[in-house]
Amino acid sequence: MRKKVTVVGAGNVGASCALRIANKELADVVLVDVVDGVPQGKALDLLESGPVEGYDVSVVGSNGYEATANSDIVVITAGLARKPGMSRDDLLAANFDIVKSATEQSIRHSPNTILILVTNPLDAMCWTAQQISGLPRNRVIGMAGVLDTARYRTFIAEALGVSVQNVAAMVLGGHGDTMVPLVRLTSVSGIPLTELMDQATIDQIVTRTRNGGAEIVKYLKTGSAYYAPSAATVEMVESILKDKKKVLPCAAALEGEYGINGLFVGVPVKLGAGGIEKIYEIQLTAPEKAELDKSAAAVQELVDVLRPKLG
Ligand code: NAI
Ligand code: 2OP
Repeated sequence: MRKKVTVVGAGNVGASCALRIANKELADVVLVDVVDGVPQGKALDLLESGPVEGYDVSVVGSNGYEATANSDIVVITAGLARKPGMSRDDLLAANFDIVKSATEQSIRHSPNTILILVTNPLDAMCWTAQQISGLPRNRVIGMAGVLDTARYRTFIAEALGVSVQNVAAMVLGGHGDTMVPLVRLTSVSGIPLTELMDQATIDQIVTRTRNGGAEIVKYLKTGSAYYAPSAATVEMVESILKDKKKVLPCAAALEGEYGINGLFVGVPVKLGAGGIEKIYEIQLTAPEKAELDKSAAAVQELVDVLRPKLG
């Protein structure tokens, strides 16, 4: 039987996710959005690309959740995107209400689904979705680390003039300015990055990675990135649907790992048919641990603001 993926939010990230899922023939897709006609129109347009691209998946759009019933995965991208001068945290209150509603309705129709959160501020929205859904932590996963790591790998490959495929790296922590690119464990075909680049260049790349989302917002002016975010999301979708068991940096609910409890923070996880099948707890140096703690503290601040809203 075919797999089914619901994408809530038919905006830039959501529609791009739907396109990539269809192009890879991973699953039938249901696009949901509150704006009348938009999910229907984009879904039909995607469906009509099938004969050219050669995919046979079904793509339907809806303003309700009936069509989403029994989805294997629900990707939540619904929300407001960042505008210039707006921080991810400004989105907090508005996106809490949107993610709460999307989670409630998704779970009602697909009680066995796996949720992948994309909406910002990412780590706080993951927490919201888990609190609202009551799902076990293997089934609520946040997309940010794959994107942040892709940006980091891009900048390293560009600076060294090597293939992006040879750059192995991992960015941990929350999806914000305090994210933690793990320089010590970054390598190019096994060669430590620190043997290939001076510290000043590495520092510049780390800073650019931390500001990667804002760099795109500054160019676009009317929205934020969506090509790389959708590619990152669909890598996670594919690993789950095909039970590939990729090890990827994702936001996961920590229960004592890395000394963090009750928060979603980006860490290496194994993604397979069961969602998060393992959380890898790697030995961090004292400065790395301090950076991760700082990043977790930034997530905690947002969660503290949201907790009273749960009622
Ligand atoms: P967008 O504005 O293009 O699309 C958002 C869509 O959500 C709109 O079509 C809107 O009508 C819809 N929407 C609003 N309320 C809804 C509701 N209650 N139910 C269903 N749909 C609803 O924004 P874009 O660029 O697609 O970004 C979406 C979100 O993803 C933003 O919060 C953005 O900050 C975040 N994002 C997160 C990334 C990450 O790394 N985690 C990367 C890129 C974007
Ligand atoms: C990004 O990093 C906006 O969070 C989004 O591009």
